[in-house]
Amino acid sequence: MKEHVEIFDTTLRDGEQVPGCKLSISQKVEIAKELEILGVDVIEAGFPISSPGDFEAVHQIATVLKDTTICALSRAIETDIESAGAALKNASNGRIHTGIGTSDFHILQKLNSNRQDIIERGIKAVKYARNLCSEVEFYAEDAGRTDNDFLARVVEKMITAGATIINIPDTTGYCLPHQYGEKIAYLMNNVSNIDKAILSTHCHNDLGLATANSIAGVQAGARQVECTINGVGERAGNTSLEEVVMILRQHDHIQLNTNIQTEQLTHISRIVESEMNMPVQRNKAIVGENAFSHSSGIHQDGVIKSRETYEIIDPKDVGAGDSQIILTARSGRAALKYRAKLLKIDLNTDQLNLAYDHFLQLADRVTQINDYQLKELLNKEVLCHVRKLIKSGINTLLSL
Ligand code: KIV
Ligand code: ZN
Repeated sequence: MKEHVEIFDTTLRDGEQVPGCKLSISQKVEIAKELEILGVDVIEAGFPISSPGDFEAVHQIATVLKDTTICALSRAIETDIESAGAALKNASNGRIHTGIGTSDFHILQKLNSNRQDIIERGIKAVKYARNLCSEVEFYAEDAGRTDNDFLARVVEKMITAGATIINIPDTTGYCLPHQYGEKIAYLMNNVSNIDKAILSTHCHNDLGLATANSIAGVQAGARQVECTINGVGERAGNTSLEEVVMILRQHDHIQLNTNIQTEQLTHISRIVESEMNMPVQRNKAIVGENAFSHSSGIHQDGVIKSRETYEIIDPKDVGAGDSQIILTARSGRAALKYRAKLLKIDLNTDQLNLAYDHFLQLADRVTQINDYQLKELLNKEVLCHVRKLIKSGINTLLSL
């Protein structure tokens, strides 16, 4: 029996804090509604103390959405926590997400403090938040570079103080998958009260490992993944929601499932892309424009015979329609015949051979041949030629 992993979406908080990705309040509310349809368990709607606009966005989202848990971020500071609590006032299911840096880099260089003081500030923040909200998540910022022994002590104390979700952020995207997985496993094995909380992954993509680290985390026992649509987020981004969800779906043996309606993934990706004005790279896994496109002759021939030869995901499962056979100078006859057939033009072998020569000449001139160009090519050049051949055949017959 598969276990459930909670999907915690932070597109509207960690994703939105990226320069150029700023959203208006109404855009945030619209995206939050789409996230609820998608089936995420938690929406981190913002950081209310950061600006009146962000406070209002969290407030409106918490008022409008009734099924999904709405989370608000705060530092381990009373005014921050109060603001988060106030913004969540109308939430059916609210969660305050508070925390503090736990790596020596953060403790010594950012907070000018010491380990004992950090634990005390964390405990105070969790207790304060618990008075304002029934659910509290604690983040140990830069946990990726925090010594595991100390991290285990912090986690134990925060659970005792009342946090029921403990976030282990790899804030700087530093860990390798096995290191991040071992960190989660260490906490699962060395925190005496770990059964009273769930561990959450929160990985950044500075080394391109955010998704791999999140998967290593859930394989080691974490039961919540923090992620964003299209992997938007600080610097190189956060863990991409669509990647994690599809990995868990494609790899049955991991024995974990989510509530995500995967056929909504392409739709929400396009919304976030356009609202945030943040183009998705064409070759992005799952939602990139090329994710289900085939342009080389060998691959096209395989996909036309059987989609599974070169695709591990049915594009319909992520709402991406059909696999695309792209016509370029690398395409073969099978692709040309297939695309012509989609235009309701059936080419026999002779026509195909003839068309293919003309096709290659055109394909070498343009990068990609679209339907219009293909129709023109087949109608004008090839079929004309074929007609001429037929006519000259008839003339030859008549002259006999
Ligand atoms: O990356 C991080 O550490 C964060 C925390 C504030 C949760 O985003
Ligand atoms: Zn983050």
